[in-house]
Amino acid sequence: MEFKFIIYEKSEGVATITLNRPEALNAFSKEVIEEVLQAVEDVKKDENVRVVVLTGAGEKAFSAGADIKAMKGMNALKARELSLMGEKLCVAFENLEKPVIAAINGYALGGGLEVAMACDLRIASENARMGQTEINIGLIPGWGGTQRLTRLVGVGKAKELVYTGKMIDAKTAEQLGIVNMVVPADKFRETVRQFALELASKAPVALKVAKALINKGSEISLDAALALEREGFGVVASTEDLQEGVSAFAEKRKPAFKGK
Ligand code: CAA
Repeated sequence: MEFKFIIYEKSEGVATITLNRPEALNAFSKEVIEEVLQAVEDVKKDENVRVVVLTGAGEKAFSAGADIKAMKGMNALKARELSLMGEKLCVAFENLEKPVIAAINGYALGGGLEVAMACDLRIASENARMGQTEINIGLIPGWGGTQRLTRLVGVGKAKELVYTGKMIDAKTAEQLGIVNMVVPADKFRETVRQFALELASKAPVALKVAKALINKGSEISLDAALALEREGFGVVASTEDLQEGVSAFAEKRKPAFKGK
């Protein structure tokens, strides 16, 4: 596949999508979004891909958000289009039936943080800086930031971050529950790789069902969510991979899961 604004690589069950516009701090233009969506379509079709890593090129940014320069003279209709486009991107990662790791290697601002929050897990380099900074240009988050941030950190902190537009460092983001872990800059890429490989070795159907249950279950009543979990448990229990896991346990060896 030929791309201009992203780098798309696959190896050992891990697909890596690198936003590749470092001269604009990997800001999301329409073209970047379209290319990422194409890569996600490929991930869906490729059974060998078990985990996705989304990251930014260069050392400075994961992504500085939506392309501000393209907003000059933007009217309400265009803004709605931009919001829909970003929403589509976020939902593509959220609904993808494979784990997605956002590897935050620098700034994750505005839409950049919103896309990262739509991923399943976030690993930050110690020099990462995050924020819903839209208010500073007279805007609000438009790719789910008012909603996904609130679900991660609660109403009070979400209001503080969205109202002030301030940036926080990686450690603060970890304390707030925005990122899962913070890694020293010199060990960042290797740690992300090892983490992704670890997930790639897990049972794919179990991962897929767990993702759907956690995503859907947190939006509905506990009673309904537990009913969904029961059914999901049944589906996962019917896989060959469960039998492989049980045999491997008894034989004291590492299981080799096939996603069947
Ligand atoms: N869109 C377009 N270009 C951007 C950009 C963005 N979001 N962020 C940075 N750039 C460009 C800069 O314009 C600059 O390009 P030029 O060299 O052509 O001028 C280049 O990237 C490097 O940036 P800076 O010179 O500004 O780098 P810095 O180190 O001085 O500052 C920064 C870094 C603090 C991240 C600063 O670039 C910044 O504040 N960027 C904007 C961040 C932001 O507000 N993001 C939210 C966007 S709105 C949004 O995302 C809406 C939504 O919810 C969907």
